[in-house]
Amino acid sequence: MHPFYDQLSFVIGHRGACGHAPENTLASFRLAKQLGAKWIETDVCISADGVPYIFHDDRLERCTNGKGLIARTHSSELDKLDAGLWYGEAFRGEAIPRLDTFLPALQQLGLNLNLEIKSPLGLEAQTTEAIAPIIRRLWNPQTPLILSSFTPHALISARKLLPEYPRGLNLDCIPSDWQARMAECGAESIHFYDPFAEQNSITAVKNAGYKVLCFTINNPQRAAELKNMGVDAVFTDVPDALLKQNP
Ligand code: G3P
Ligand code: MG
Repeated sequence: MHPFYDQLSFVIGHRGACGHAPENTLASFRLAKQLGAKWIETDVCISADGVPYIFHDDRLERCTNGKGLIARTHSSELDKLDAGLWYGEAFRGEAIPRLDTFLPALQQLGLNLNLEIKSPLGLEAQTTEAIAPIIRRLWNPQTPLILSSFTPHALISARKLLPEYPRGLNLDCIPSDWQARMAECGAESIHFYDPFAEQNSITAVKNAGYKVLCFTINNPQRAAELKNMGVDAVFTDVPDALLKQNP
């Protein structure tokens, strides 16, 4: 098991603290830190010209004043968009962070990172190739960083380009062939969707020596249940609510 997993905390701020601030903005990461989070999760994808940005959706409409696919929009356009106003006037002017702005900012905050690689199918290698040199250049290799993705190809590419960082496989449900799927991309953790939580599969993954993480948990009572089931960490939009019981 990679030593970064020893430093995992039970509560991971999902897209920063996106229950209280516009997701995946620097304001959201700063707030996660203020609320006491030690780890945050965020999403990275590439623009039309191959620049990595911190952004969750395929499309720009929900969380910015832009339109269309982020993977089909040039960085010169993305840099002009507002990623805070949709959430509230107080956040007007928040940018979609570029990965090369985000990484130094996060380290200045002293936060550990789960970076989820988001990629349209077919762009997995290109996405990982774009992020790898930026991580190499700007991330302190002593600071915990777990790479994860729903797309195995992104993790297979990460194993080649960033072998020193551990990988987590994102899935909705822990499938019966979980072991083969983890082996395919050299994953050391499974990150699954809470409605599919099931004791037998969690126990099986844990007994094999891997970590089990669960998204997205905003209810402290549910977090406690998952902890009792053996879940190692949960992603939450409201780190303050869960940190009361899991400091
Ligand atoms: O990485 C955990 C979780 O963020 C996966 O789902 O859609 O919120 O990126 P999503
Ligand atoms: Mg995510």
